[in-house]
Formats: sequence, C-alpha cells, structure tokens
Amino acid sequence: MEVGITYDLQKDYLAQGMSEEEAAEFDRLDTIEAIDGTLRGLGFKTDRIGNIKALAKRLVDGDRWDLVFNIAEGIRGFGREAQVPALLDAYDIPYTFSDVLVLSLTLHKGMTKRAIRDMGIPTPDFRIVETEQDAQALNLPFPLFAKPVAEGTGKGIDSSSRIENKRELAAVCRNLLERFQQPVLLEVFMPGREFTVGITGTGAASKAIGAIEVILKKGAEPAAYSYHNKKQFEEVVEYQPAKDEMAEKAVEVALAAWRGLGCRDGGRIDLRADGEGVPNFLEVNPLAGLNPDISDLPILCRLNGVAYRELISRIMDSALKRIRT
Ligand SMILES: Nc1ncnc2c1ncn2[C@@H]1O[C@H](COP(=O)(O)OP(=O)(O)OP(=O)(O)O)[C@@H](O)[C@H]1O
Ligand SMILES: [Mg+2]
Repeated sequence: MEVGITYDLQKDYLAQGMSEEEAAEFDRLDTIEAIDGTLRGLGFKTDRIGNIKALAKRLVDGDRWDLVFNIAEGIRGFGREAQVPALLDAYDIPYTFSDVLVLSLTLHKGMTKRAIRDMGIPTPDFRIVETEQDAQALNLPFPLFAKPVAEGTGKGIDSSSRIENKRELAAVCRNLLERFQQPVLLEVFMPGREFTVGITGTGAASKAIGAIEVILKKGAEPAAYSYHNKKQFEEVVEYQPAKDEMAEKAVEVALAAWRGLGCRDGGRIDLRADGEGVPNFLEVNPLAGLNPDISDLPILCRLNGVAYRELISRIMDSALKRIRT
C-alpha cells in the first residue's frame, strides 16, 4: 500500500522570508523523517509529496496514492488546513485525520466554541472582537484572556494575554488585530489546572490515550502556556501524567468534544479548569504536532506508555478502518 505524505516544511518558508513566528506551525524535516520512517517500519511504501502546490502538480501529472498521511497546515485563510483535504476529496483519494468541514471549523476557535457550547460542553464565555470599538463595548467579567482567533503554537500568546482592565483590553486587542490581521477571541480567564488530552480513533471508536497536566515552572512566562513557554518547554514546563478525578473529567469533556465535532484518527484537546474546578474546553488540535521529541502529543503518549510507533500505527488503523468500511 502506497502512502503519500503531505506537509508544509518550515525551512522552505523561512527561506522565502517568513519570520520564525510566522513559520512556527510548519513542520521540521526531522518530523517528516520520523513519520516517514515509522510508516515504512509499519510496512507501508511511502512517498513524500510536500505542500499543496507540490500535491497539485503531482495530481495533474496523474500520480495517485492509496492514502495520504496529511499534516499540511496551509498558508492563508480560515480554510488553510482544509485545502489539501479538499483537493484530495476532489480526486477521491483518502487521507488521514479530519475532513474539510472539521478542519475549517476548528481553525476558527470562536466558531468552534459556538458549536461546543451548543453541545452543552463547558467552555469559557467569550466574544469575538473584530475592531477596537468592539473591545470597548465588551461586557465580560475581568480577568479575560485574549488570543488571535485562528492561530496555534501559542502564536500571539504571552504574559499580556491575561487582561485585568479596560486599558489593557484596548491595548492588547489593538496589538493582536494589527499583528495577526484577524479577529481576536476574548474569553473569561480560566484560573485552574491545565490539561491536554490525547485521543486516537474516530467517532464511537475514539479513545483517550490519557491526560497530562501542563505545569509552568519557576522562570516560565506567567499565566499561560505561551509561545515563549512552548519554545522553551524543556526548561520552563513540566508535563505530569494526570489520573485524578479532575483529570478524568477533562478526558470525558475532551472525548465529548472530539466526537461531537467529528474529529478523526488522532489529535489533542486543550482544557483548563474554571474557579469551580470544572475542566473547560479551550481548543482542539485536529492536526497535532507529531515531532517525536518536542510535540505535545508524542510527549503525552510517552508519559502514558504509548511509543511513537504505536501512535502512528493507531492513527493509520483508524484511517484504514474508515476507508475499508
Ligand atoms: N480562557 C483561558 N484562560 C486561561 N488561559 C488560557 C485561556 N485560553 C488559553 N489559555 C492559555 O493559553 C494557552 C494557549 O491557548 P490555545 O491552546 O488556545 O493556543 P494555541 O496556540 O492554539 O495552542 P497549540 O499550541 O496547542 O495549538 C493555553 O494552553 C492556556 O495556557
Ligand atoms: Mg493549545
């Protein structure tokens, strides 16, 4: 069985002049090598395709694959993660991970939260702010938390993301609107423990690998698992496998969100507890980072006794099961 691999390689975009932050979500070569090597170890024939433009050319040239292992993040627009899946759908080529609908929805954290709230799943109250004037008129209780509505890897998140008053609110919104050229998501600040839950599988067959608690150590940027803290995680972040009652609740909330949104094959859900100790849904990562050493999902797997090969194998099993039924 031949498996194509689609991805956006970080160094290609750095070479084109993108900043390190702009290219932060793209993949390192060692990540692609790890996925490729593991797939071959599992008995698949592989073909590194690359990004959407490379894929488009190959498709037009007549190339086809039995399945595409897709981790392409895309470059532009709310549909950027859905572009490769849309193209593959057009050519009737199956792929790993979520479909066009899920990847478009979940890139927009605000629209995702509307769906999540409708399912009765706890998520912090929020507003989507498109202008500085919207921010002035906001009626949510401080402290608040601000982030770009459609970014990942902690982009736009730092010690100023926790907002205490109207003056900070205006300054942070102005800065994020200008820097990221997209709406800002403002949420009620969750003061409790932070968890990330790893999940593999699809629908009723989806299973949690486990939860880990994200603990910020001394010397970390305060208040959030921010861009800086994610980059310096070896020094400032501790990941603790968590199995207590609150962690179990986090797993339950995460699985309900995963199934409710229709996510497939594997990924991660981030949660934080509110003042009452209830884990709230923050966001879902349906294309979670897969670097064996530095990405949260493989780290979570390791801490829960699941080897990298086993993770990739479970993702493939889930995708193949969908395709064969
Ligand atoms: N409402 C909130 N209250 C408190 N902290 C929050 C809130 N929303 C986000 N955070 C903090 O900011 C971090 C990053 O937020 P979020 O997970 O939405 O961003 P991300 O950049 O998409 O993350 P990832 O790297 O997982 O893609 C969270 O892990 C958490 O520490
Ligand atoms: Mg996150």
